[in-house]
Amino acid sequence: MSFQFVSDWSGPDASPDIRISDFFTPYMKLLELDNVSKVFGGVVAVNRVSFHLNQGEVLGLIGPNGAGKSTLFNLISGIFKPNAGTVRFNNKDITGMAPYKICESGIARTFQLVKPFSRLTSLENVMVGRAYGSHPARDTREARIESEQILAFTSLANKQTRTAGMLSLVDRKRLEIARALATKPKLLLLDEMMAGLNPAELDDAIALVKSIRDSGISLIVVEHVMKVIMGISDRVIVLKTGEKIADGTPQEIVSNREVVKAYLGGEVSC
Ligand SMILES: Nc1ncnc2c1ncn2[C@@H]1O[C@H](COP(=O)(O)OP(=O)(O)OP(=O)(O)O)[C@@H](O)[C@H]1O
Ligand SMILES: [Mg+2]
Repeated sequence: MSFQFVSDWSGPDASPDIRISDFFTPYMKLLELDNVSKVFGGVVAVNRVSFHLNQGEVLGLIGPNGAGKSTLFNLISGIFKPNAGTVRFNNKDITGMAPYKICESGIARTFQLVKPFSRLTSLENVMVGRAYGSHPARDTREARIESEQILAFTSLANKQTRTAGMLSLVDRKRLEIARALATKPKLLLLDEMMAGLNPAELDDAIALVKSIRDSGISLIVVEHVMKVIMGISDRVIVLKTGEKIADGTPQEIVSNREVVKAYLGGEVSC
């Protein structure tokens, strides 16, 4: 992974011999969770979880059903406030901030159960997204043009006048991603966007995730299909009953004994 940083150091005290690129690390942390916990009644859904995501990375997040993956997304995106711990994004503490504020700061997410406005067209759904986020469209015309571009990027160009409720499962999932991209995120959280897809649709979905990453957006991807996680992730973290049990490269994760044990019973498909 390489980064180009074009601007030179220009602060008042800077020596002309020093460039900011001398200090810039390609592994800049974009997201950092420190000992984050969430309790529902007696259930500790997320238990003192710490991890970070580097700028430009795709991080796979796996774990058996009920491990706390969606809850972690809800904590990062502000839907739930953590009982303990901190969430930092882009060098800012966003712990407990309102979801729309977190969206404005550059985090977008999809939902495990996709939730488009089913009576609106695909285009209208994406245009709603262009009204929010880090750089909202200035007017309806701009929102329309940019939404058409996003629909083309997500292979929905020829379905933009179709109402969302009439789309197939795979297209509803693409629309969910398109709506999230419409908020112009720096970080995109994908929650099981590939569940229920056939092998050809899976390959297309993997290609879409890679092109999102290539456009400069970092991603955290929750999936049960290991072929997908292994194919797209730079690093993988594993949750089990709310706790992080492993964090490493895909190769390290598949050979980790605790991870293999957590999955005995066939919860992961290959
Ligand atoms: N709103 C809620 N109220 C009460 N308990 C909840 C709530 N949301 C999640 N939980 C509980 O928290 C735990 C973690 O759930 P979560 O949905 O985060 O798991 P998950 O890893 O996303 O599972 P799956 O793979 O099935 O989607 C579970 O025990 C779940 O029942
Ligand atoms: Mg879930």
